[in-house]
Amino acid sequence: MRCMYILGVSCYYHDSAAALLKDGVIVAAAQEERFTRKKHDTSFPVNSIKYCLESQKITINDVAYAAFYEKPILKFERMLSQHLQSFPRSFKTFLSSMPSWFSEKLRVASAFRKKIGYKKDIFFIEHHLAHAAGAFLISPFETAAIVTIDGVGEWTTTAYGTGDGEDIRLAKEIRFPSSLGLLYSTLTAYLGFSVNNSEYKVMGLSPYGETDKSRNPYYQKIKKVIDLKGDGSYRMDMKYFKYHYADRMPSEKLCELLGGPIRKSGDELTQRHKDIAAALQLAYEEALFAILRHVHNETKCDNLVLSGGCGLNSVANGKILKNTPFKKFWSQPDPGDGGASIGAASYAYNVILGNKRNFVLRDAYLGPGFTTEEIRRFLDANGIKYTEFKDEDDIVRTTARLIMEDNVVGWFHGRMEWGPRALGARSILSNACNPKMQEILNLKVKHREKFRPFAPVVCEDDALKYFDCDRPIPEPTDFMLMVYPIRKEYHKAIPAVTHVDGSGRLQTIRREQNRMYYDLIKEFGKHSGIPILINTSFNIRGEPIVCTPYDAYKCMMGTGIDCTVMDRFLIKRADNPQDMWNSEKYAKD
Ligand SMILES: [Fe+2]
Repeated sequence: MRCMYILGVSCYYHDSAAALLKDGVIVAAAQEERFTRKKHDTSFPVNSIKYCLESQKITINDVAYAAFYEKPILKFERMLSQHLQSFPRSFKTFLSSMPSWFSEKLRVASAFRKKIGYKKDIFFIEHHLAHAAGAFLISPFETAAIVTIDGVGEWTTTAYGTGDGEDIRLAKEIRFPSSLGLLYSTLTAYLGFSVNNSEYKVMGLSPYGETDKSRNPYYQKIKKVIDLKGDGSYRMDMKYFKYHYADRMPSEKLCELLGGPIRKSGDELTQRHKDIAAALQLAYEEALFAILRHVHNETKCDNLVLSGGCGLNSVANGKILKNTPFKKFWSQPDPGDGGASIGAASYAYNVILGNKRNFVLRDAYLGPGFTTEEIRRFLDANGIKYTEFKDEDDIVRTTARLIMEDNVVGWFHGRMEWGPRALGARSILSNACNPKMQEILNLKVKHREKFRPFAPVVCEDDALKYFDCDRPIPEPTDFMLMVYPIRKEYHKAIPAVTHVDGSGRLQTIRREQNRMYYDLIKEFGKHSGIPILINTSFNIRGEPIVCTPYDAYKCMMGTGIDCTVMDRFLIKRADNPQDMWNSEKYAKD
Protein backbone atom coordinates (compact mmCIF):
# COMPACT_ATOMS: atom_id res chain seq x y z
CA MET A 1 0.00 0.00 0.00
CA ARG A 2 1.22 3.53 -0.72
CA CYS A 3 2.45 5.57 2.22
CA MET A 4 0.79 8.87 3.06
CA TYR A 5 3.28 11.71 3.36
CA ILE A 6 2.26 15.04 4.89
CA LEU A 7 4.56 18.04 4.83
CA GLY A 8 4.31 20.56 7.68
CA VAL A 9 5.75 24.05 7.18
CA SER A 10 6.29 27.12 9.35
CA CYS A 11 7.85 30.33 8.06
CA TYR A 12 7.76 34.13 7.55
CA TYR A 13 7.88 35.09 11.23
CA HIS A 14 10.86 33.49 12.92
CA ASP A 15 12.53 30.08 12.88
CA SER A 16 11.10 28.64 9.71
CA ALA A 17 11.10 24.86 9.55
CA ALA A 18 9.70 21.82 7.79
CA ALA A 19 8.64 18.41 9.04
CA LEU A 20 7.61 15.26 7.17
CA LEU A 21 5.08 12.72 8.42
CA LYS A 22 4.99 9.25 6.91
CA ASP A 23 1.77 7.51 7.87
CA GLY A 24 1.64 9.58 11.04
CA VAL A 25 5.28 9.03 12.04
CA ILE A 26 7.65 12.01 12.01
CA VAL A 27 10.48 10.79 9.81
CA ALA A 28 12.34 14.08 9.27
CA ALA A 29 12.30 17.64 10.58
CA ALA A 30 14.75 20.52 10.49
CA GLN A 31 14.96 24.28 10.80
CA GLU A 32 15.91 26.28 7.72
CA GLU A 33 18.68 28.19 9.54
CA ARG A 34 20.81 25.05 9.69
CA PHE A 35 21.06 24.95 5.90
CA THR A 36 21.18 28.65 5.03
CA ARG A 37 23.48 29.39 8.03
CA LYS A 38 21.34 32.44 8.81
CA LYS A 39 20.23 32.36 12.45
CA HIS A 40 16.43 32.29 12.95
CA ASP A 41 15.97 32.33 9.16
CA THR A 42 12.36 33.22 8.39
CA SER A 43 12.31 32.43 4.68
CA PHE A 44 10.22 29.73 3.00
CA PRO A 45 12.08 26.57 4.12
CA VAL A 46 13.11 25.28 0.69
CA ASN A 47 16.23 23.57 2.04
CA SER A 48 14.49 21.94 5.00
CA ILE A 49 11.81 20.61 2.65
CA LYS A 50 14.45 19.33 0.22
CA TYR A 51 16.17 17.54 3.10
CA CYS A 52 12.88 16.00 4.33
CA LEU A 53 12.05 14.65 0.89
CA GLU A 54 15.55 13.36 0.15
CA SER A 55 15.72 11.61 3.51
CA GLN A 56 12.82 9.42 2.34
CA LYS A 57 14.01 9.26 -1.27
CA ILE A 58 10.74 10.78 -2.47
CA THR A 59 9.81 13.84 -4.52
CA ILE A 60 7.25 16.55 -3.85
CA ASN A 61 4.82 14.58 -6.06
CA ASP A 62 4.73 11.87 -3.39
CA VAL A 63 3.44 14.31 -0.77
CA ALA A 64 -0.33 13.89 -0.34
CA TYR A 65 -1.00 17.03 1.70
CA ALA A 66 0.82 20.06 3.01
CA ALA A 67 -0.05 21.85 6.24
CA PHE A 68 0.87 25.41 7.19
CA TYR A 69 1.29 26.56 10.80
CA GLU A 70 -1.14 29.52 10.73
CA LYS A 71 -3.97 31.18 8.82
CA PRO A 72 -2.32 34.15 7.08
CA ILE A 73 -5.63 35.87 6.25
CA LEU A 74 -6.68 35.93 9.90
CA LYS A 75 -3.29 37.24 10.91
CA PHE A 76 -3.51 39.94 8.25
CA GLU A 77 -6.93 40.92 9.55
CA ARG A 78 -5.45 41.33 13.04
CA MET A 79 -2.62 43.44 11.62
CA LEU A 80 -5.09 45.72 9.83
CA SER A 81 -7.34 46.04 12.84
CA GLN A 82 -4.41 46.78 15.14
CA HIS A 83 -3.09 49.47 12.81
CA LEU A 84 -6.53 51.04 12.36
CA GLN A 85 -7.08 51.20 16.09
CA SER A 86 -3.75 52.91 16.63
CA PHE A 87 -3.94 55.23 13.61
CA PRO A 88 -2.22 57.65 13.06
CA ARG A 89 0.50 56.51 15.50
CA SER A 90 0.80 53.23 13.64
CA PHE A 91 1.05 54.68 10.14
CA LYS A 92 4.83 54.37 9.79
CA THR A 93 4.94 50.73 10.95
CA PHE A 94 1.89 50.00 8.82
CA LEU A 95 3.67 51.24 5.71
CA SER A 96 6.85 49.35 6.45
CA SER A 97 5.10 46.06 7.22
CA MET A 98 2.79 45.97 4.20
CA PRO A 99 5.24 45.02 1.41
CA SER A 100 6.17 41.70 3.07
CA TRP A 101 2.47 40.86 3.44
CA PHE A 102 1.77 41.33 -0.23
CA SER A 103 5.01 39.83 -1.50
CA GLU A 104 5.04 36.68 0.61
CA LYS A 105 2.97 36.35 3.80
CA LEU A 106 -0.38 36.36 1.94
CA ARG A 107 1.01 34.29 -0.92
CA VAL A 108 1.83 31.06 0.87
CA ALA A 109 0.09 28.80 -1.68
CA SER A 110 1.99 30.51 -4.46
CA ALA A 111 5.28 29.93 -2.60
CA PHE A 112 4.45 26.22 -2.30
CA ARG A 113 3.82 26.17 -6.07
CA LYS A 114 6.72 28.27 -7.23
CA LYS A 115 9.44 27.31 -4.78
CA ILE A 116 8.86 23.57 -4.43
CA GLY A 117 6.38 22.71 -7.20
CA TYR A 118 3.62 21.63 -4.79
CA LYS A 119 0.16 22.10 -6.28
CA LYS A 120 -2.13 19.94 -4.14
CA ASP A 121 -4.18 20.83 -1.04
CA ILE A 122 -2.73 22.90 1.77
CA PHE A 123 -4.35 22.86 5.19
CA PHE A 124 -3.97 26.19 6.95
CA ILE A 125 -4.08 25.40 10.66
CA GLU A 126 -4.81 28.07 13.24
CA HIS A 127 -1.52 28.90 14.91
CA HIS A 128 -2.34 27.90 18.48
CA LEU A 129 -4.00 24.72 17.23
CA ALA A 130 -0.74 23.93 15.45
CA HIS A 131 1.15 24.57 18.70
CA ALA A 132 -1.37 22.44 20.62
CA ALA A 133 -1.17 19.59 18.10
CA GLY A 134 2.63 19.75 18.04
CA ALA A 135 2.64 19.12 21.76
CA PHE A 136 -0.28 16.76 22.33
CA LEU A 137 -0.49 14.48 19.28
CA ILE A 138 3.13 13.28 19.57
CA SER A 139 3.10 13.10 23.39
CA PRO A 140 2.84 9.85 25.35
CA PHE A 141 -0.56 10.92 26.76
CA GLU A 142 -3.92 9.53 25.64
CA THR A 143 -5.60 12.52 27.28
CA ALA A 144 -4.03 15.78 28.48
CA ALA A 145 -4.69 19.38 29.33
CA ILE A 146 -3.13 21.58 26.65
CA VAL A 147 -1.75 25.06 27.26
CA THR A 148 -0.22 27.24 24.53
CA ILE A 149 1.55 30.53 25.27
CA ASP A 150 3.52 32.59 22.76
CA GLY A 151 3.93 36.17 21.49
CA VAL A 152 0.93 36.07 19.19
CA GLY A 153 -0.56 33.85 16.51
CA GLU A 154 -3.44 35.21 14.43
CA TRP A 155 -5.18 36.78 17.42
CA THR A 156 -4.47 34.33 20.21
CA THR A 157 -1.60 34.78 22.65
CA THR A 158 -2.57 32.17 25.26
CA ALA A 159 -5.01 29.29 24.95
CA TYR A 160 -5.99 26.18 26.81
CA GLY A 161 -8.08 23.11 26.21
CA THR A 162 -7.89 19.35 26.14
CA GLY A 163 -6.60 16.58 23.97
CA ASP A 164 -8.33 13.22 23.95
CA GLY A 165 -7.18 10.58 21.47
CA GLU A 166 -7.32 12.33 18.10
CA ASP A 167 -9.52 15.13 19.37
CA ILE A 168 -8.12 18.56 20.25
CA ARG A 169 -10.29 21.32 21.66
CA LEU A 170 -9.09 24.72 22.69
CA ALA A 171 -11.73 26.01 25.11
CA LYS A 172 -10.57 29.52 26.00
CA GLU A 173 -8.07 32.04 24.78
CA ILE A 174 -6.51 35.40 25.56
CA ARG A 175 -6.15 37.71 22.59
CA PHE A 176 -3.68 40.26 21.32
CA PRO A 177 -2.51 42.76 22.49
CA SER A 178 -2.38 41.16 25.97
CA SER A 179 0.44 38.65 25.72
CA LEU A 180 2.76 37.03 28.24
CA GLY A 181 5.18 36.23 25.43
CA LEU A 182 5.26 39.86 24.27
CA LEU A 183 5.68 41.02 27.88
CA TYR A 184 8.80 38.84 28.13
CA SER A 185 10.04 40.11 24.76
CA THR A 186 9.35 43.74 25.68
CA LEU A 187 11.43 43.46 28.85
CA THR A 188 14.09 41.59 26.84
CA ALA A 189 14.24 44.64 24.54
CA TYR A 190 14.23 46.98 27.54
CA LEU A 191 17.24 45.14 28.98
CA GLY A 192 19.11 45.64 25.69
CA PHE A 193 18.85 42.12 24.25
CA SER A 194 17.46 41.08 20.89
CA VAL A 195 13.80 40.12 20.70
CA ASN A 196 12.81 36.61 19.52
CA ASN A 197 16.36 35.54 20.14
CA SER A 198 17.67 36.47 23.57
CA GLU A 199 14.70 35.92 25.89
CA TYR A 200 16.62 32.94 27.30
CA LYS A 201 19.50 35.27 28.21
CA VAL A 202 17.12 37.32 30.38
CA MET A 203 16.01 34.06 31.99
CA GLY A 204 19.70 33.20 32.60
CA LEU A 205 20.29 36.68 34.05
CA SER A 206 17.34 36.50 36.44
CA PRO A 207 19.01 34.53 39.30
CA TYR A 208 21.60 37.32 39.63
CA GLY A 209 18.80 39.67 40.69
CA GLU A 210 16.78 39.71 43.90
CA THR A 211 14.54 36.63 43.71
CA ASP A 212 12.61 37.39 46.89
CA LYS A 213 9.39 39.09 45.76
CA SER A 214 9.12 41.21 48.90
CA ARG A 215 12.65 42.59 48.47
CA ASN A 216 12.82 42.98 44.68
CA PRO A 217 12.16 46.69 44.00
CA TYR A 218 10.77 45.98 40.52
CA TYR A 219 8.43 43.10 41.21
CA GLN A 220 5.46 45.25 42.23
CA LYS A 221 6.17 47.57 39.29
CA ILE A 222 6.02 44.76 36.75
CA LYS A 223 2.88 43.47 38.49
CA LYS A 224 1.30 46.83 37.64
CA VAL A 225 1.74 45.98 33.98
CA ILE A 226 -0.21 42.69 34.18
CA ASP A 227 -3.66 42.53 35.67
CA LEU A 228 -3.71 38.85 36.66
CA LYS A 229 -7.20 37.64 37.55
CA GLY A 230 -8.13 34.87 39.95
CA ASP A 231 -8.98 32.51 37.08
CA GLY A 232 -5.51 32.85 35.53
CA SER A 233 -6.69 35.17 32.76
CA TYR A 234 -4.80 38.43 32.41
CA ARG A 235 -4.81 41.80 30.71
CA MET A 236 -1.83 43.98 29.99
CA ASP A 237 -1.94 47.69 30.70
CA MET A 238 -1.06 48.76 27.15
CA LYS A 239 0.24 52.17 28.15
CA TYR A 240 3.50 50.40 29.01
CA PHE A 241 3.90 48.97 25.50
CA LYS A 242 4.33 50.17 21.94
CA TYR A 243 4.47 46.90 20.02
CA HIS A 244 0.87 47.25 18.85
CA TYR A 245 1.71 50.34 16.82
CA ALA A 246 5.46 50.86 16.60
CA ASP A 247 8.71 49.04 15.90
CA ARG A 248 9.90 49.63 19.44
CA MET A 249 8.34 47.47 22.14
CA PRO A 250 8.71 49.33 25.51
CA SER A 251 6.87 52.65 25.86
CA GLU A 252 8.14 55.81 27.59
CA LYS A 253 5.76 54.95 30.45
CA LEU A 254 7.53 51.64 30.97
CA CYS A 255 10.89 53.42 31.11
CA GLU A 256 9.38 55.79 33.67
CA LEU A 257 7.96 52.91 35.70
CA LEU A 258 11.30 51.11 35.76
CA GLY A 259 13.21 54.29 36.46
CA GLY A 260 15.54 54.49 33.48
CA PRO A 261 16.00 54.34 29.71
CA ILE A 262 16.26 51.22 27.55
CA ARG A 263 19.69 49.64 28.08
CA LYS A 264 21.90 49.83 25.01
CA SER A 265 23.35 46.51 23.92
CA GLY A 266 26.93 46.37 25.17
CA ASP A 267 26.33 48.75 28.10
CA GLU A 268 27.22 47.46 31.53
CA LEU A 269 24.65 45.15 33.13
CA THR A 270 24.00 46.67 36.54
CA GLN A 271 22.28 45.20 39.59
CA ARG A 272 19.19 47.17 38.55
CA HIS A 273 19.03 45.28 35.23
CA LYS A 274 19.49 41.98 37.05
CA ASP A 275 16.69 42.83 39.49
CA ILE A 276 14.37 43.71 36.59
CA ALA A 277 15.17 40.34 34.94
CA ALA A 278 14.42 38.59 38.25
CA ALA A 279 11.15 40.51 38.71
CA LEU A 280 10.08 39.60 35.17
CA GLN A 281 10.83 35.91 35.70
CA LEU A 282 8.91 35.97 39.01
CA ALA A 283 5.91 37.67 37.39
CA TYR A 284 5.97 35.26 34.44
CA GLU A 285 6.07 32.24 36.74
CA GLU A 286 3.25 33.60 38.87
CA ALA A 287 1.05 34.12 35.79
CA LEU A 288 2.00 30.72 34.32
CA PHE A 289 1.20 28.83 37.52
CA ALA A 290 -2.09 30.73 37.93
CA ILE A 291 -3.08 29.74 34.38
CA LEU A 292 -2.04 26.13 34.93
CA ARG A 293 -3.88 25.83 38.27
CA HIS A 294 -7.02 27.17 36.61
CA VAL A 295 -6.64 24.82 33.65
CA HIS A 296 -6.21 21.84 35.97
CA ASN A 297 -9.31 22.87 37.85
CA GLU A 298 -11.30 23.18 34.63
CA THR A 299 -10.04 20.06 32.88
CA LYS A 300 -9.53 17.81 35.92
CA CYS A 301 -6.74 16.22 33.92
CA ASP A 302 -3.38 15.40 35.58
CA ASN A 303 -1.35 15.35 32.35
CA LEU A 304 -0.14 18.63 30.93
CA VAL A 305 1.39 19.48 27.56
CA LEU A 306 2.75 22.99 27.06
CA SER A 307 3.64 24.64 23.79
CA GLY A 308 4.33 28.02 22.19
CA GLY A 309 7.58 29.99 22.51
CA CYS A 310 7.08 30.43 26.27
CA GLY A 311 7.49 26.67 26.59
CA LEU A 312 11.22 27.36 26.19
CA ASN A 313 11.29 29.01 29.63
CA SER A 314 13.06 26.06 31.21
CA VAL A 315 13.43 27.79 34.60
CA ALA A 316 9.63 28.05 34.92
CA ASN A 317 9.12 24.57 33.40
CA GLY A 318 11.24 23.00 36.13
CA LYS A 319 8.87 24.42 38.76
CA ILE A 320 5.54 23.43 37.13
CA LEU A 321 4.98 20.12 38.88
CA LYS A 322 5.88 21.60 42.30
CA ASN A 323 3.58 24.62 41.91
CA THR A 324 0.50 23.16 40.22
CA PRO A 325 -1.63 20.05 40.73
CA PHE A 326 -0.43 18.50 37.43
CA LYS A 327 1.29 15.15 37.90
CA LYS A 328 2.90 14.70 34.47
CA PHE A 329 4.34 17.18 32.01
CA TRP A 330 5.45 16.86 28.40
CA SER A 331 6.75 19.19 25.71
CA GLN A 332 8.38 18.52 22.37
CA PRO A 333 12.04 19.58 21.79
CA ASP A 334 10.90 22.68 19.91
CA PRO A 335 7.81 24.19 21.56
CA GLY A 336 8.30 27.40 19.52
CA ASP A 337 7.20 28.24 16.00
CA GLY A 338 9.53 25.74 14.33
CA GLY A 339 7.75 23.00 16.28
CA ALA A 340 4.40 24.18 14.93
CA SER A 341 5.38 22.66 11.56
CA ILE A 342 5.18 19.22 13.20
CA GLY A 343 1.93 20.33 14.83
CA ALA A 344 0.37 21.43 11.54
CA ALA A 345 1.24 18.12 9.84
CA SER A 346 0.06 16.01 12.81
CA TYR A 347 -3.18 18.01 13.04
CA ALA A 348 -3.84 17.34 9.36
CA TYR A 349 -3.12 13.61 9.71
CA ASN A 350 -4.88 12.86 13.00
CA VAL A 351 -7.62 15.46 13.33
CA ILE A 352 -8.61 16.54 9.80
CA LEU A 353 -8.03 13.21 8.09
CA GLY A 354 -9.08 11.21 11.16
CA ASN A 355 -6.18 8.76 11.36
CA LYS A 356 -5.32 7.10 14.68
CA ARG A 357 -2.31 8.43 16.59
CA ASN A 358 0.57 6.01 16.21
CA PHE A 359 3.69 7.95 17.17
CA VAL A 360 5.35 9.30 20.30
CA LEU A 361 8.42 11.51 19.95
CA ARG A 362 11.09 9.87 22.13
CA ASP A 363 14.21 11.60 20.87
CA ALA A 364 15.15 14.70 18.91
CA TYR A 365 17.32 13.15 16.19
CA LEU A 366 15.21 14.06 13.15
CA GLY A 367 17.71 16.09 11.13
CA PRO A 368 20.31 15.22 8.48
CA GLY A 369 22.82 12.46 9.18
CA PHE A 370 25.94 11.43 7.26
CA THR A 371 27.33 7.95 6.73
CA THR A 372 30.90 7.05 7.70
CA GLU A 373 31.78 6.81 4.01
CA GLU A 374 30.29 10.23 3.23
CA ILE A 375 32.36 11.77 6.02
CA ARG A 376 35.51 9.91 4.94
CA ARG A 377 35.02 11.20 1.39
CA PHE A 378 34.65 14.77 2.66
CA LEU A 379 37.83 14.50 4.74
CA ASP A 380 39.90 12.81 2.01
CA ALA A 381 38.69 15.08 -0.80
CA ASN A 382 39.86 18.09 1.18
CA GLY A 383 43.15 16.66 2.44
CA ILE A 384 42.03 17.02 6.06
CA LYS A 385 44.29 15.10 8.44
CA TYR A 386 42.53 12.68 10.77
CA THR A 387 42.93 9.39 12.56
CA GLU A 388 40.36 6.64 12.43
CA PHE A 389 39.06 4.97 15.58
CA LYS A 390 39.18 1.19 15.79
CA ASP A 391 35.64 0.75 17.08
CA GLU A 392 32.98 2.35 19.29
CA ASP A 393 34.90 1.44 22.46
CA ASP A 394 37.92 3.28 21.14
CA ILE A 395 35.76 6.36 20.33
CA VAL A 396 34.31 6.38 23.83
CA ARG A 397 37.60 5.77 25.69
CA THR A 398 39.68 8.20 23.64
CA THR A 399 37.06 10.98 23.76
CA ALA A 400 36.61 10.58 27.54
CA ARG A 401 40.39 10.91 27.94
CA LEU A 402 40.49 14.01 25.73
CA ILE A 403 37.74 15.60 27.83
CA MET A 404 39.51 14.60 31.07
CA GLU A 405 42.60 16.38 29.72
CA ASP A 406 40.47 19.55 29.43
CA ASN A 407 40.25 19.60 25.66
CA VAL A 408 37.27 21.32 24.08
CA VAL A 409 35.81 18.55 21.93
CA GLY A 410 33.42 18.89 19.00
CA TRP A 411 31.07 15.89 18.99
CA PHE A 412 29.42 15.18 15.63
CA HIS A 413 27.41 11.97 15.53
CA GLY A 414 24.30 10.69 13.81
CA ARG A 415 21.30 12.78 12.81
CA MET A 416 21.14 16.46 13.80
CA GLU A 417 18.84 17.44 16.65
CA TRP A 418 15.41 18.97 16.13
CA GLY A 419 14.84 22.15 18.11
CA PRO A 420 17.07 24.90 19.44
CA ARG A 421 19.23 22.78 21.76
CA ALA A 422 22.25 20.62 20.96
CA LEU A 423 21.53 17.23 22.50
CA GLY A 424 24.55 15.10 21.70
CA ALA A 425 24.52 15.00 17.90
CA ARG A 426 26.03 18.45 17.18
CA SER A 427 27.49 19.31 20.60
CA ILE A 428 30.67 20.67 22.08
CA LEU A 429 31.61 18.59 25.11
CA SER A 430 34.03 19.41 27.90
CA ASN A 431 34.98 18.81 31.51
CA ALA A 432 32.25 19.93 33.95
CA CYS A 433 34.55 19.33 36.95
CA ASN A 434 37.13 21.94 35.98
CA PRO A 435 36.32 25.32 37.63
CA LYS A 436 38.15 27.09 34.78
CA MET A 437 36.23 25.36 31.98
CA GLN A 438 33.56 28.03 31.63
CA GLU A 439 36.29 30.61 31.04
CA ILE A 440 38.20 28.31 28.69
CA LEU A 441 35.09 27.58 26.60
CA ASN A 442 34.27 31.26 26.35
CA LEU A 443 37.81 32.12 25.39
CA LYS A 444 38.22 29.35 22.84
CA VAL A 445 34.86 29.26 21.16
CA LYS A 446 31.66 30.56 22.71
CA HIS A 447 32.49 34.20 23.58
CA ARG A 448 29.32 34.41 25.66
CA GLU A 449 28.27 36.99 28.20
CA LYS A 450 29.91 36.03 31.50
CA PHE A 451 26.59 35.62 33.32
CA ARG A 452 25.39 32.83 31.07
CA PRO A 453 25.82 29.34 32.45
CA PHE A 454 26.82 26.21 30.56
CA ALA A 455 24.56 23.21 30.65
CA PRO A 456 25.24 19.74 32.06
CA VAL A 457 24.37 16.37 30.50
CA VAL A 458 23.88 13.33 32.69
CA CYS A 459 22.69 9.78 32.06
CA GLU A 460 19.10 9.48 33.18
CA ASP A 461 19.87 6.76 35.73
CA ASP A 462 22.38 9.10 37.47
CA ALA A 463 20.27 12.27 37.33
CA LEU A 464 18.51 11.99 40.70
CA LYS A 465 21.81 11.53 42.50
CA TYR A 466 23.06 14.92 41.33
CA PHE A 467 19.89 16.92 40.61
CA ASP A 468 16.74 17.61 42.59
CA CYS A 469 14.42 16.66 39.71
CA ASP A 470 10.73 15.85 39.80
CA ARG A 471 10.12 12.11 40.12
CA PRO A 472 9.67 10.44 37.73
CA ILE A 473 11.91 12.74 35.70
CA PRO A 474 9.70 14.45 33.07
CA GLU A 475 10.71 13.58 29.50
CA PRO A 476 11.26 17.23 28.44
CA THR A 477 14.43 16.96 30.55
CA ASP A 478 15.77 14.83 27.67
CA PHE A 479 15.34 17.91 25.47
CA MET A 480 17.01 20.34 27.92
CA LEU A 481 13.72 22.08 28.68
CA MET A 482 13.83 21.84 32.48
CA VAL A 483 16.06 23.65 34.96
CA TYR A 484 16.48 21.88 38.31
CA PRO A 485 18.53 22.54 41.44
CA ILE A 486 21.87 20.74 41.58
CA ARG A 487 22.19 18.97 44.94
CA LYS A 488 24.22 21.17 47.26
CA GLU A 489 26.91 18.58 47.94
CA TYR A 490 27.84 18.60 44.22
CA HIS A 491 28.00 22.35 43.59
CA LYS A 492 31.75 22.36 44.06
CA ALA A 493 32.28 19.10 42.16
CA ILE A 494 30.74 20.46 38.94
CA PRO A 495 31.42 24.20 39.12
CA ALA A 496 31.42 24.68 35.35
CA VAL A 497 27.71 23.85 35.06
CA THR A 498 26.41 25.15 38.41
CA HIS A 499 24.55 28.43 37.90
CA VAL A 500 24.76 31.24 40.45
CA ASP A 501 21.55 30.01 42.14
CA GLY A 502 22.80 26.41 42.25
CA SER A 503 20.65 25.25 39.34
CA GLY A 504 21.46 23.54 36.05
CA ARG A 505 19.63 23.30 32.72
CA LEU A 506 20.38 19.64 32.47
CA GLN A 507 19.93 17.20 29.63
CA THR A 508 19.19 13.63 30.64
CA ILE A 509 20.04 10.88 28.19
CA ARG A 510 18.94 7.27 27.95
CA ARG A 511 21.12 4.68 26.23
CA GLU A 512 18.43 3.77 23.70
CA GLN A 513 18.33 7.41 22.56
CA ASN A 514 22.05 7.81 21.83
CA ARG A 515 24.29 4.88 22.78
CA MET A 516 27.74 6.38 22.30
CA TYR A 517 26.86 9.68 23.96
CA TYR A 518 25.53 7.78 26.97
CA ASP A 519 28.60 5.49 27.13
CA LEU A 520 30.94 8.47 26.82
CA ILE A 521 29.37 10.20 29.84
CA LYS A 522 29.62 7.00 31.88
CA GLU A 523 33.25 6.49 30.79
CA PHE A 524 34.11 10.06 31.78
CA GLY A 525 32.48 9.38 35.16
CA LYS A 526 34.75 6.35 35.72
CA HIS A 527 37.79 8.61 35.55
CA SER A 528 36.49 11.84 37.07
CA GLY A 529 34.18 10.33 39.69
CA ILE A 530 31.29 12.45 38.32
CA PRO A 531 29.44 11.21 35.22
CA ILE A 532 28.46 14.69 34.01
CA LEU A 533 29.78 16.65 31.02
CA ILE A 534 29.34 20.18 29.80
CA ASN A 535 27.14 20.01 26.70
CA THR A 536 26.95 23.18 24.67
CA SER A 537 25.89 23.72 21.10
CA PHE A 538 28.41 23.17 18.28
CA ASN A 539 28.51 26.72 16.88
CA ILE A 540 30.15 30.09 17.22
CA ARG A 541 28.18 32.84 18.97
CA GLY A 542 25.59 34.30 16.63
CA GLU A 543 25.64 31.38 14.16
CA PRO A 544 23.25 28.44 13.89
CA ILE A 545 24.34 25.03 15.19
CA VAL A 546 26.46 23.13 12.63
CA CYS A 547 24.68 20.72 10.33
CA THR A 548 27.19 19.15 7.92
CA PRO A 549 30.79 17.85 8.29
CA TYR A 550 31.85 21.00 6.40
CA ASP A 551 30.10 23.27 8.93
CA ALA A 552 31.68 21.37 11.82
CA TYR A 553 35.17 21.47 10.35
CA LYS A 554 34.83 25.16 9.49
CA CYS A 555 33.59 25.92 13.01
CA MET A 556 36.49 24.04 14.62
CA MET A 557 39.14 25.69 12.44
CA GLY A 558 37.67 29.14 13.01
CA THR A 559 37.64 28.80 16.79
CA GLY A 560 39.71 27.27 19.56
CA ILE A 561 37.90 23.91 19.56
CA ASP A 562 40.79 21.47 20.08
CA CYS A 563 39.44 18.52 18.15
CA THR A 564 36.30 17.07 16.63
CA VAL A 565 35.15 13.51 17.03
CA MET A 566 33.17 13.07 13.84
CA ASP A 567 31.62 9.64 13.52
CA ARG A 568 34.66 7.27 13.42
CA PHE A 569 37.21 10.01 12.88
CA LEU A 570 39.29 12.17 15.19
CA ILE A 571 40.26 15.50 13.59
CA LYS A 572 42.67 17.71 15.51
CA ARG A 573 42.78 21.42 14.82
CA ALA A 574 46.54 21.52 15.40
CA ASP A 575 47.14 18.90 12.66
CA ASN A 576 45.46 20.99 9.98
CA PRO A 577 46.46 24.27 8.32
CA GLN A 578 44.93 27.26 10.10
CA ASP A 579 44.97 29.54 7.08
CA MET A 580 42.89 27.30 4.86
CA TRP A 581 39.83 26.69 7.00
CA ASN A 582 37.61 28.98 4.99
CA SER A 583 39.19 28.34 1.65
CA GLU A 584 36.98 27.55 -1.33
CA LYS A 585 39.04 24.40 -1.59
CA TYR A 586 36.82 22.68 0.95
CA ALA A 587 33.97 20.86 -0.70
CA LYS A 588 30.65 21.30 1.06
CA ASP A 589 29.26 17.86 0.31
FE1 LIG B 1 3.86 30.77 18.04
